[in-house]
Parts: sequence; C-alpha cells; structure tokens
Amino acid sequence: MKLVVVCGTRPEIIKMAPVIRELEKRNSDYFILHTGQHYSYNLDKVFFEQLEIPQARYNLEVGSGSHAEQTARILTGVEQVLLQEKPDVLLVEGDTNSVLGGALAAVKLHIRVGHVEAGLRSYDRTMPEEINRILTDHCSDYLFAPTDKAKSVLLAEGIPGESVFVTGNTIVDAVLQNLSRTEQKSNILDALNLRPKDYFLVTLHRQENVDSRHRFASILQGLDRLADEYKLPIVYPIHPRSQKRIMEYQLNPQNLSLIDPVDYLGFLQLENNAKLILTDSGGVQEESCILRVPCVTLRDNTERPETVVVGGNSIAGIKPEDIHRCSKIMLDRANNWQNPFGDGKAGERIVDTILGGK
Ligand code: UD1
Ligand code: UDP
Repeated sequence: MKLVVVCGTRPEIIKMAPVIRELEKRNSDYFILHTGQHYSYNLDKVFFEQLEIPQARYNLEVGSGSHAEQTARILTGVEQVLLQEKPDVLLVEGDTNSVLGGALAAVKLHIRVGHVEAGLRSYDRTMPEEINRILTDHCSDYLFAPTDKAKSVLLAEGIPGESVFVTGNTIVDAVLQNLSRTEQKSNILDALNLRPKDYFLVTLHRQENVDSRHRFASILQGLDRLADEYKLPIVYPIHPRSQKRIMEYQLNPQNLSLIDPVDYLGFLQLENNAKLILTDSGGVQEESCILRVPCVTLRDNTERPETVVVGGNSIAGIKPEDIHRCSKIMLDRANNWQNPFGDGKAGERIVDTILGGK
C-alpha cells in the first residue's frame, strides 16, 4: 500500500504532522507532496523543521494567484506526480485550494482519496473554503470526521456511512505532542515582554474579512476599543495577506502590536497564556477550545459549532459593539468546558483505517 500525503499551507502542515509521524513510526511506504501554496519561511519551512517532518519528495511551487490559477496549477502538478508514483491512496487535510486540487486530481485517476477533517460546514458558500470542503468530501473514499456532528452532516448529504470514520481532530494530537515542548523551546513571552494571562491574542486572515476594507476596518476598530477598555497588550501575528491589505487600505491600528507570523511552539505558548483569543482562523478556534482559553470568533459563522456548544467560543461577527459584548461574555465565563475534538489519537486511527484496508 503506497500513500501520498498532500500539504500546501500552514494549517495542513501542522494538522498532517501527527499522521506523518504515525506513518514514519510504522515504516510505511509513503511520500509527501507539497503544493507550494505557502512558501514564505514562516508559513512553511519553519513547521517542517520544528515538527520534525521529513522533507517533501516533491514541491510543485504553485505559489500565489487567483483561485482558478492556483487550483489549476495544483491540479496539473499533482496529476503528473500521481501518474509517475502511482500511489494507492492520497491524503488531504482541511479546506484549502491544495486540498481540492489534490483530491480532484486523484479521483479522476481512480486513486482513493482520504479527507482528514471531513464534514465541516459553515453553510456560507461565499467562502472559498466551503466550496473546497463540500467538493472534497463528495469525491473522497475515506472521510475522517473529527466529531459525531461532522459525521451526521456527511450522512445527511447522502455519503455512505461505511466511508465515514470518526477519528477526532489531529489538531488535538498536535497540541498534546507539542505543548510540553513549548516551555523548553520557546521564550516568546519574555521576548515580547508579555505576562501570562495579561494580554489578548489576535489572528485575522480570512479572505472575506481582510479583503474587504469595510470589514477589516470594523474589526480593527473593535480591537482598538478592547485595548482602550482593558488596558492590556493585544498581540497580532499578522498573515502576509492581511499585512498586504493593511498597507493597501492604509489602516493604522494604533493599539495593536503587529508581529510577524510565529513558529508553532511560540504560537502555542502565546495561545496557552493569553487571557482571551480573538480570531477568524479555524485551527485557532480549535486550539483555544482544547487549551481552555476563551475565544471570540471574528466571523458571522463557524464550521466548528462544537466550540460554541461546549462554551469555549462566541461568534461575534465584525461590529465593534458585538466584539466588545462577546469578549466580555467570554471573559466572565468559567473556562471549564470539555474538549470536543477527541483524545489525541486521530493520527493513529487514520493510519489504522487506511493500512487496515477498511
Ligand atoms: C489559505 C487558504 C485558507 C487558509 C490559509 C491558512 C485557500 C483558498 N485559502 O489562505 O483557507 O486558512 O491558507 O493560512 O486555500 N502569501 C505570502 N507567502 C506565502 C503565502 C501567501 O506572502 O507563503 C501572501 C500572498 O500575497 C498571497 C496571499 O498571501 O497572495 C494569500 O495566499 P493564499 O495561499 O492565496 O491564501 P491564504 O490567505 O494564505
Ligand atoms: N499558527 C502559527 N503561527 C501563527 C499563527 C497561527 O503556528 O503565527 C498556527 C496555529 O497554531 C494553528 C494554525 O496555524 O494551528 C492555523 O492556521 P491558519 O490560521 O493560518 O489557518 P486556518 O486554520 O484558518 O485554516
């Protein structure tokens, strides 16, 4: 049984790492195919180094571009590699253009597709990620749903139950495998002059937020208001897409501390010690819930409703008064919720399922 693990962006590298680790442990016949969607050192290589992932056998170097350009380059590049390597199963994780391109190339060549993190839905088809998720789920042979809720979504869409496996989310594996390493290997709090539970952490990069001047400015106004009221530092490791837009729109957030994107151990430490996290990231909503740090989501919806149901997340949208209100609610709430994303053995289950031929 030969496997190919496709990854292209920061969250895919982080969430595939536990699967790769498991394949390594079992000496499996597999290789990594990097699409090159992310290529800046601090969005890409730093994670391979820090998470000790073997080098990709191929890097397609597709780079940035419009959705069609980028997806087309991924599709043709992945197809070439598949024709040459003839793997039995292709694994993708999440909802990026790399995921859709990889899955589509494989299914047309009758190569089985495994989708890690299947069954998530925001029910907002203006999000590129929602289209990628739906299409990838519907051309996959193995659907690795992180939760029972995700499984029920897939069944309701007519996907046969025997293709769906509830595994937990590999982000729990990643957090558990790396949390204890953060203390020894990162001194980011000292470096940024922050005290534990005495700052807010922000990430913001979704296309629908930062590619709209109105939405981006409204969120920044909300964050400014929080800084004013709580008199705490607000740290924002800024994604290059958002950095580009801040310059283009000439936004000038006064009260935020903008820093370059952070490596994984540093970022985990920043999350774990934050008083409150405000984000539009999928992975960060999950991690804050796992770490029991209150989260406010700067979006109109979430494909991670489990975080809200357990009490770890509040969906604020983008209006300053709503960001303020939801932050207050989350800061007042006891953070004793249960992690809904599994026990940290998702990687093991995924590899068991595929290698067991189930
Ligand atoms: C992509 C995913 C998004 C995911 C995010 C993770 C899609 C449709 N979007 O968004 O779901 O949450 O990755 O971070 O697949 N850039 C760099 N260096 C890089 C990569 C990008 O500077 O290494 C800049 C470029 O200006 C580029 C922009 O960021 O145009 C956006 O990159 P892109 O890969 O298109 O989308 P992301 O916003 O990263
Ligand atoms: N992350 C990181 N450094 C940062 C910001 C985020 O290591 O400066 C990690 C974070 O811990 C999470 C993942 O990146 O595991 C989330 O990726 P991102 O927000 O880019 O994408 P999304 O999850 O929204 O698709």
